[in-house]
Amino acid sequence: MSTNSKQIQQDPREKITARSLIQKKQARQKITMLTAYDYPMASLLDRSGLDVILVGDSLGMVVLGYENTLPVTMDDMLHHCKAVARGSKNCLLVGDLPFMSFQVSIEEAVRNAGRLMQEGGMGAVKLEGGRERVATIKAIVDAGIPVMGHIGLTPQSIHKFGGFKTQGKTSESAIRIIEDARMLQEAGCFAIVLESIPSQIGKLISEALQIPTIGIGAGMECDGQVLVVHDVVGMFDRFQPKFSKQYVNAFEFLGSGISQYINEVRQGVFPAAKESVFMAQDEYVEVLSKLRAEEPKNR
Ligand code: KIV
Repeated sequence: MSTNSKQIQQDPREKITARSLIQKKQARQKITMLTAYDYPMASLLDRSGLDVILVGDSLGMVVLGYENTLPVTMDDMLHHCKAVARGSKNCLLVGDLPFMSFQVSIEEAVRNAGRLMQEGGMGAVKLEGGRERVATIKAIVDAGIPVMGHIGLTPQSIHKFGGFKTQGKTSESAIRIIEDARMLQEAGCFAIVLESIPSQIGKLISEALQIPTIGIGAGMECDGQVLVVHDVVGMFDRFQPKFSKQYVNAFEFLGSGISQYINEVRQGVFPAAKESVFMAQDEYVEVLSKLRAEEPKNR
């Protein structure tokens, strides 16, 4: 082989699909899922070997600075889905249907789910809700679009719940969540996010379903776990949910680099010669002599 022929870097990982998540559950392999909202984070997560990237409507809070997820629009979602799709090769990409993009009519829900796939480059969509969403989920699945369900604490309903509160703490509400999970599986969901419910209920649902459960505050027995990536890397300091875990402190780490930059610019240390570009000396001499020739004679 000639020394300058290019080695083709082949990624040994296979593209993750909705179907491969079900196979992972059957093989008792835990599913890993995190949110991402832009190209650099998607590239990083993809290279890290993560299974699923969720472009969650949590972007409203951690990226756009809203109080909750309700103001997030289809346009916001599409903008971020496209950026994530450009950064990821192997992860299954799931796009969240934002508040009021699927509740008004089934037709609108199918159209918006289709936009996340067609324009946003997603491989599946996620929508919040239980039994009341069965007909919508069936219609989206019938259109050929894989759907991930989301029950328990569904942040788009915080006003109904009276805040970000754990759901299913009474036997009656727990049974309702278990029934919802069964109905979503029946409706055709390929996986279900279980958010902020008692661990015992997360376990019961995970054992009862053939499709995988992805927990966020739903205990250790779910088939996979999801967290908001900004919580994991310490890039959101307004609050830290009890069920999340911060593995690094990016604000501290990045902040120290930014302070160093500010100091170096103020002290005239940056840029130094190695970060600067110089022209050839003879060209520069020419510039000076041309400038001199243009100077008024009698100055
Ligand atoms: O929007 C989101 O990030 C989510 C996860 C928290 C599951 O729905």
